[in-house]
Amino acid sequence: MALAGNSLISLEELTKEDILYLLAQAAKFEEEPNRRVLEGKVVATLFFEPSTRTRLSFETAANRLGARVIGFSDAATTSSSKGESLKDTIMMVSNYADVIVMRHYLEGAARYASEVSPVPIINAGDGANQHPSQTMLDLYSMQKTQGTLDGLNITLVGDLKYGRTVHSMLTAMRHFKSKFRFIAPRELEMPCEYKEYCRKYGIEFSESRDFDRNVINSSDIIYMTRVQRERFTDLMEYERVKDTYILRNDMLAEAKPNLKIMHPLPRVNEIALDVDDNPAAYYFKQAKNGLFVREALICNSLNIQI
Ligand code: CP
Repeated sequence: MALAGNSLISLEELTKEDILYLLAQAAKFEEEPNRRVLEGKVVATLFFEPSTRTRLSFETAANRLGARVIGFSDAATTSSSKGESLKDTIMMVSNYADVIVMRHYLEGAARYASEVSPVPIINAGDGANQHPSQTMLDLYSMQKTQGTLDGLNITLVGDLKYGRTVHSMLTAMRHFKSKFRFIAPRELEMPCEYKEYCRKYGIEFSESRDFDRNVINSSDIIYMTRVQRERFTDLMEYERVKDTYILRNDMLAEAKPNLKIMHPLPRVNEIALDVDDNPAAYYFKQAKNGLFVREALICNSLNIQI
């Protein structure tokens, strides 16, 4: 199995079988993360937007697989700051690397890069659009902790408007029979196009502004998200909504025993520090799973089987 054109831009392009195959590959990498299957390969990481987890886990994945890594974490240090176009940047880097992992602030930038690039592109997040590698690690985390991706009550909380991780998640979950609750302030509701998407693919969902005990106690997964200051043009609006939902440990007293609290991270205020020691807190382990999933994604982009 290989991803369409070997690039990974959106999970829209993956079948259920593709997704399950990649999750199974990730499980093999979790058993043995150090496999020198990419000796002689070069992986480029081009980050036009800040990142901690995504860039470092992709780079760690490449290193553990024996590849070399080139790239940048600050576009201001590159010739794009002199006006070089994205196309020219991609053409140059594809002269040097076998696969390009790219994060960009513009929606659609990864798709465009894949159309001009001679080497595979892995979308590491494009604006408020999609973050497919994050979703793959989210699915891996849910499957690992719940034993299934079907029949779950998944509560998405916070910035559902700009949150590319929740958008990507819905795209992938069209293949599974879980129920969603969207909890967001009016200003940050799930966009209509994603609600339409859910209706089209029969994804059950409900919407609410209340993040109360009934919601918490009936959830298998609570997926908290950060209100993203960098996406707001009006900072007054950001200030108004940024602390709408804060999950505290005392709110979890009657949660289901299988509940896992997830967050793509970074968090700001939306999960209080006292939740970190609760057995339901899974966000740091979730980020660790990103390494295994990204090993699987890089290998797949290069048609390397393990
Ligand atoms: N989850 C995520 O994308 O984190 P980073 O922004 O640190 O990469």
